[in-house]
Formats: sequence, structure tokens, C-alpha cells
Amino acid sequence: MLGAAAPAGAVVGGTPVPDGQLRYVANISIAGAFGCTGTLIAPDWVVTAGHCGSLTGSIVPTPIGMPASTIDVKLASVHTDGSGAEDHKVTQVIVDSDYLVTNGSGNDVTLLQLDHASAVRPVLIAAVGERAIWNAGRLATIAGFGLASENAPQPPDTMQKARVPIRSDADCAAAYPDGLGGGSFDAKTMLCAGYPQGGTDTCQGDSGGPLLAKALDGSLRLVGATSFGDGCGRPGKPGVYARVAEGPIRSFIAR
Ligand code: ARG
Repeated sequence: MLGAAAPAGAVVGGTPVPDGQLRYVANISIAGAFGCTGTLIAPDWVVTAGHCGSLTGSIVPTPIGMPASTIDVKLASVHTDGSGAEDHKVTQVIVDSDYLVTNGSGNDVTLLQLDHASAVRPVLIAAVGERAIWNAGRLATIAGFGLASENAPQPPDTMQKARVPIRSDADCAAAYPDGLGGGSFDAKTMLCAGYPQGGTDTCQGDSGGPLLAKALDGSLRLVGATSFGDGCGRPGKPGVYARVAEGPIRSFIAR
């Protein structure tokens, strides 16, 4: 499966998401501009990337949540301009207390509490018993409102999705050994996905968005949140995702 050709074609190498699909994928803007993606995991909770909800970036090693009032969350619309979306303000921002503590980009998740319960059905985080559906080699779905290529001036006008194979922890560690290209790989809090030859990947603006595995009944489960990568879709540089379905991040979200 890893040797197969990457599908031609945002998200880099993706296709537009049809209207009405992936309604739980959130289009997040902060202070009216800086964009991230997120995922509805409970009627009033969206998970996104730590570096989206944190004021501290990589400079101050203490996670301080963005003022909730500056964050806008749009659900149920594939349109980048938010047309037809269910619009939310945020009442609470909870940054993982281990974000940035472990290594430059570890525990890259933040929880946003919405001002009112969404009418959208949340996606379930993969259960512990579903571990096999996201083993290395399995194809997973990525989606987001981010750039369709590393140097694109602006994102496409429709949410994009694509499929990428989950990679082994050894592959991920080999691709990100030294903190260059966004961080060093930490298997406890990260997983990575992508073809060896690149071409299909998440990119800037997709951060916090979902990496989804297919459950045995065909429905999707959340296994990752887009975190970082060296460029987008480069050969040998798979995308790195926060490991939300097990380990310390699963425990953080459960709290
Ligand atoms: N950090 C980026 C963001 O803020 C996401 C980068 C994902 N990169 C990748 N090559 N998979 O949106």
C-alpha cells in the first residue's frame, strides 16, 4: 500500500469535499484572520491544534489560551467563506498543560468550548478497542481548510480531503529526528501519515483538523489532529498529527 501511487490532484493533493459531508470539521478563525481547522468531538467541544489556541507559540513554554472572544468557529459548511455555516463563539479555551513542555511541538492540542451545543453530530474518537483500524499501512482521511500547496497565496474556496497511509513510528522518527522542519517526532503524542513520495498532505491552515480512520461499520473515527510537517507534501516528509486516540492526549481530552 505504501508503494502505491499517490492520487493526483488541496490539503495538498486532495479533492473538494461535497456539500453536506464532514459537517463536524470546523473552520476556525482567530482575531478575524489566522486560520486553523478543528473537529467537533462533543456537542459543544471542538478539538484543534495547541499552536492555534495558544498565545505563546514556541517562545514562552507556558500554554496560555487565546482570549476566547477572539475565536470564531464555523461548522457544517464546506465553504471557506462560511456560507451556510453554523456559527459559534467560544466560551473557554483549554490548552493541553503539556503542550510545548515535552518538546517543541508535543501535545499539540487545544479544546474549544462552544457558546451553544451544535446541531451537527460529533465524530467519535477511535475507541481503545479500535486500535487496529489505524495501524501503520492503513489509509486514513485528512481534511481541512488549509493551503493546496506549500506556496499557495490563499486556500481553496472549498474544504479539501484526501487519503494518506498511516506510517510506522520508526518511519516518522526517521523523517523528523532533529526538530528541523517543525519538531522532532515523539511517538507518545504524535503519529504521522503520508506516502513516501509525498504529494498528498495537510498544509498551513489545516492545523487542528482531523486524521480519520474507517471503523469496521464504515463510519469514521478521529485518530489525529494536524500538527506540523516540513513544507507540505514533500517526499520523505509525512505530515505529523497529534495522537488523540491514545496515550497522554487521549487522557487530556477525557478530562
Ligand atoms: N502547522 C500547520 C498549520 O498551522 C499545519 C502543517 C501541516 N503540515 C504538513 N506538512 N502536514 O496549519
